[in-house]
Amino acid sequence: MHYTNEQIAALVKEDKVHRDVYTDPEIFKIEMDRIWGRSWIYVGHESQVKNPGDYFATSIGTQNVIMTRHTDGLVHVLFNRCSHKGAQLIGDACGHAKQMRCPYHGYIFDTAGTLIHIPQEEGYAGSPYGKGKDESNIKRVARVDSYRGLVFASLSASGPDLRTWLGGAALSIDNMADRSPQGELEIAGGCFRYVHDSNWKMFVENLNDAMHPMVVHQSSAGTAKRVFDDLGMEQDKVPFELEMLSPFASDYEFFEKMGLTAWDNGHSVTGGKVSIHSAYSPIPGYAEALIDAYGEEKTKDILSINRHNTVVYPSFTLKGVITSIRVVKPIAVNKTVIESWVFRQVGAPEELFQRSITYCNLVNSHANLVGPDDQEAYHRMQYGLETKDDNEWVSQHRYLGADEINEDGEKTSTGTSDMVFRHQFETWKAYMTKEEAA
Ligand code: FES
Ligand SMILES: [Fe+2]
Repeated sequence: MHYTNEQIAALVKEDKVHRDVYTDPEIFKIEMDRIWGRSWIYVGHESQVKNPGDYFATSIGTQNVIMTRHTDGLVHVLFNRCSHKGAQLIGDACGHAKQMRCPYHGYIFDTAGTLIHIPQEEGYAGSPYGKGKDESNIKRVARVDSYRGLVFASLSASGPDLRTWLGGAALSIDNMADRSPQGELEIAGGCFRYVHDSNWKMFVENLNDAMHPMVVHQSSAGTAKRVFDDLGMEQDKVPFELEMLSPFASDYEFFEKMGLTAWDNGHSVTGGKVSIHSAYSPIPGYAEALIDAYGEEKTKDILSINRHNTVVYPSFTLKGVITSIRVVKPIAVNKTVIESWVFRQVGAPEELFQRSITYCNLVNSHANLVGPDDQEAYHRMQYGLETKDDNEWVSQHRYLGADEINEDGEKTSTGTSDMVFRHQFETWKAYMTKEEAA
């Protein structure tokens, strides 16, 4: 169906959303234009294109792009489309090239997208197509900016600048980077990438859903917790794998206390000072390295932040303590690719990095103990919502009317509230009912 703005707005009520927001391909198409085509979207990390000539192919919503480092030292984000007849320019995921040569007719572009060579160029004499003509270069996305090494791009020329748009979510990125004694992160190795047969919003919502872990993760984390308890060992004697898995099966009270905080533009976080990550045993030499770099006071501040999952709406989520991010790539209304990347904290002990890798192996990979629990839940949500019974609505009633605004102007609630979902859909509605970009 064709949607008017009024019809889109009617899909989101104060306490519920219509199931079509997860199942209608037409809604998905509008989301790609009005949300993914307008907001800042995470593209990659500067360390993936360290040297001039490095490139990394990715996507912004359903648009294919390439992040490159040009000889001018700048990071560019270009559409992955040849200016000649439109062939995909870069076919692999990443690499290094002085120039980009289109595989079809061999036209060559530099890493800023400028057309630099055409075979049999004389055929273009007197034509508007050719070298030195802007229209013949590879198109760049409208805006590119980075924050602490994380590169974002927007397909829209208008809208708030990146730092303003991030709001309170910036602190999560700062804390992730500050956990390196040099304040610097680098992507290490590839990523876990797997396809979910569900709508992209299900993953984004789940990352701040504290009503599910004690249920969904009973089989994996619950078992780990029992083993942990049975061992009766001191926290620092327990293998990290158990230390990491067992908090997923914490009780409602624990998740309630973690709390939720939300900021403008759909961003939110579970936990602050306390989270499922806050009781990890210390890594020898790590605190000392931070104190050497920052002093005692700042080190205390850095390590006191234990945010659980931060959602940077709509395109990625991050965990500062684990120094990893999960990137959301919508493919179709019922198909989403999730990539899980791990950063190395430059200058920190190798053991810290190994712990992050272990965490992601055990929680975020497609062959692990925890992630598939969630994937089954998303699958069942999609399957259930495609059943068109008389109940057209998805409930968001939990703790309705109990949201608070704190002294910093942030929206807060108890940990198991539906506040973040209502908040995400407020943002969704605002983007989706605007014909023109802000
Ligand atoms: S389509 Fe790229 S050179 Fe022809
Ligand atoms: Fe989960």
